Amino acid sequence: MEADATKHLWWQEGIIYQIYPRSFQDSNGDGIGDLPGILTRLDYLSELGITAIWLSPIFPSPMADFGYDISDYQGISPLFGTLSDFDALVAAVHGRGMKLMLDLVPNHTSDQHPWFLESRSSRDNPKRDWYIWQDALPDGAVPNNWLSMFGGNAWEWDEPTQQYYYHAFLKEQPDLNWRNPEVQEAMLNVMRFWLDRGVDGFRVDVMWHMIKDEMLRDNPVNPNYQPHMATYEQLLPVYSTDQPDVHDVVMQMRHVLNSYPERMMIGEIYLPLHQLVAYYGVDGKGAHLPFNFQLLTLPWEARQIAAAVDQYEGVLPVDGWPNWVLGNHDQPRITSRVGKEQARVAALLLLTLRGTPTIYYGDEIGMRDVPIPFEEVQDPQGLNMPDKNLSRDPSRTPMQWNKSPNAGFSEGKPWLRLARDFARENVERQKEDPYSMLTLYRRLIKLRQQEPSLRVGDYVPVYSDTQLIAYIRQLEGHPRFLILLNLSHRPGYFKAKDSSLTGVVAIATSPDWEGTPVNDTISLSGDEGLVIRLT
Ligand code: GLC
Repeated sequence: MEADATKHLWWQEGIIYQIYPRSFQDSNGDGIGDLPGILTRLDYLSELGITAIWLSPIFPSPMADFGYDISDYQGISPLFGTLSDFDALVAAVHGRGMKLMLDLVPNHTSDQHPWFLESRSSRDNPKRDWYIWQDALPDGAVPNNWLSMFGGNAWEWDEPTQQYYYHAFLKEQPDLNWRNPEVQEAMLNVMRFWLDRGVDGFRVDVMWHMIKDEMLRDNPVNPNYQPHMATYEQLLPVYSTDQPDVHDVVMQMRHVLNSYPERMMIGEIYLPLHQLVAYYGVDGKGAHLPFNFQLLTLPWEARQIAAAVDQYEGVLPVDGWPNWVLGNHDQPRITSRVGKEQARVAALLLLTLRGTPTIYYGDEIGMRDVPIPFEEVQDPQGLNMPDKNLSRDPSRTPMQWNKSPNAGFSEGKPWLRLARDFARENVERQKEDPYSMLTLYRRLIKLRQQEPSLRVGDYVPVYSDTQLIAYIRQLEGHPRFLILLNLSHRPGYFKAKDSSLTGVVAIATSPDWEGTPVNDTISLSGDEGLVIRLT
């Protein structure tokens, strides 16, 4: 029997939705979102049509980096709920036919994690080697020139034991020594703990940081550094990240996942394409999906985006499944980067490219970055480099559900202020509006889920210029789709070279287009995009 080309694994044909738990839904009035809150919003997510929810960290943490500093990998922070709240959430998510993914943060722990407390307690503690300890240089200086992503150098002096420890992020986030087999085993057990509880997969935090150069060689200077950039970018992280041995570690993680049915992992990796695709692993034994952040990092320019899509399609390993991302909790929101109108075009792009899309909560209602006054900034990245406007708070503000006080997010004072316009821009209002972003997202998701060509079909580039991108999605035996996007604000013209390109507009950024038959020449307004069912 021939394999059914429309059948793929859930994480290939599905759509992932990232929840930043602090900001999704509060249930107990402390102004911070929590698991019981998320539970009450599952119907919304299932109506939206997404497949899997990824939760940013929900584990016990001193919250120096809002949960990315974990002090217990096998518990739930009381801010978010309890283990039984978690079990209830897993059951409810599965009950609706959806999947649940957790954030795994294996590169570093909190400095309050018992492992680190032990490790720092003395030089001969059995866990000393679980972290990266180094003597000072003879003149007392730090072991090398490595910088912290959050500003300053990456070494912290420990007075009692007279050594430095390495932290790629905050000094409250010491890096684990992944060359130590005990560390490896401990973290693989963390994975097993959650997999046994029914979790469907992990988003692995800073995967490309996990192994560092054994000789701790100095990083070279970045010749392209400019003063507005984060101080970290003064050096090229040649020796502190993306070391060849990291792939063995990823393979071990994959091995654990393979011992459970249909589980998966996504790696958070900010690297150029040719380095990124190495994380699929030799013979596909690495990450199921190394996050593809090109739509986050490239300028929003038609030719560059079109080239990036084609390059990515070109360098993927044979069995490597693609994926696309427009936003996450570390980056400015898409609406703030490209504008409200263009964000609709971006939605068409995200949901019609070949590969698994990840949607960042709130982007489906076009939430914008919220300006957070200086005295309210909470993100350590913003606080540590105050003159560079690098705070990630603006893209982490509470979800805008309705026009009631605090947008229906919380009965208490939200931990971050809300957008001023939440009474107008919210789920409840957009749900009824055929022209809203939410309606566009819902319909695009529905079409994608219904049409095998869009869900799992091939990608065929058709055309691009300084304004437009056009491509076809097709799967034998199913309707083909032509996607035509105007990434500029000016009108643009598409002229098909192939006269067989006739069809009917299925979905458009301006719903007025829908149902319109189109053929060889199509004139588009600025900020307009069409999904055309070819006939
Ligand atoms: C990842 C997370 C980010 C966090 C950092 C350190 O990049 O996405 O939010 O600050 O890792 O854990």
